[in-house]
Amino acid sequence: MSWYAEHLVPRIVNLVCSTPGVSRWRRLAVEGLRGSVVEIGFGSGLNVRYYPSAVERVYAVEPRDAAWRLAQRAIAASPVTITRAGLDGQHLSLDNSSCDSALSTFTLCTVGDDALAARELYRVLKPGGVLHVLEHGLAPDERVATWQRRLDPLERVLADGCHLTRDPVAVLESAGFALTRLEQRYESGPKPWSYFTVALATKPLD
Ligand SMILES: C[S@@+](CC[C@H](N)C(=O)[O-])C[C@H]1O[C@@H](n2cnc3c(N)ncnc32)[C@H](O)[C@@H]1O
Repeated sequence: MSWYAEHLVPRIVNLVCSTPGVSRWRRLAVEGLRGSVVEIGFGSGLNVRYYPSAVERVYAVEPRDAAWRLAQRAIAASPVTITRAGLDGQHLSLDNSSCDSALSTFTLCTVGDDALAARELYRVLKPGGVLHVLEHGLAPDERVATWQRRLDPLERVLADGCHLTRDPVAVLESAGFALTRLEQRYESGPKPWSYFTVALATKPLD
């Protein structure tokens, strides 16, 4: 792992992903989280301040120590018990059907195998549990999508594996989730990075 990916990218993400525009989307994404929550790609803890009061504990999954260190102030200031529960959202060390909710913000774009991560979240959620997702992804406009495909290889190198061309909706549906809320539109900013999806993906009752 390079020094750039371990130390610099978490700081850049912390800055770029904490703008007022992105924070409005975070508030939307966390609405309704409750009980025990697994959050993959916890990063620098930018969602912590928006957790609703119904959240009791959070299992944070984050590979980068630098990001975890940046998160410490937010964790200390939160009334929620937040523990680091692993390093890889593709292989969670949580029991089947053990979590009430799950959260992934700008992480399905980055994990090596987004389909595997979505299936893991499905596995650890209780039936009726909800995965809250906020992602950027493949735009519906061909001109933008063409640019996304061109820029994707560079993005992966510069942003520690992040893809511009993933389709979070397709991945969630393939994992077995039912989408119970879906909002997709451009946020302000360069279009290849700003086609946002906020979704609630529910694990059906048995
Ligand atoms: C673009 S950042 C988003 C961070 C945070 N979720 C946010 O919204 O600010 C992507 C995060 O996913 C993490 N990540 C990368 N691979 C991962 C994996 N296999 N499992 C869990 N998290 C991973 C990165 O270290 C990084 O913190």
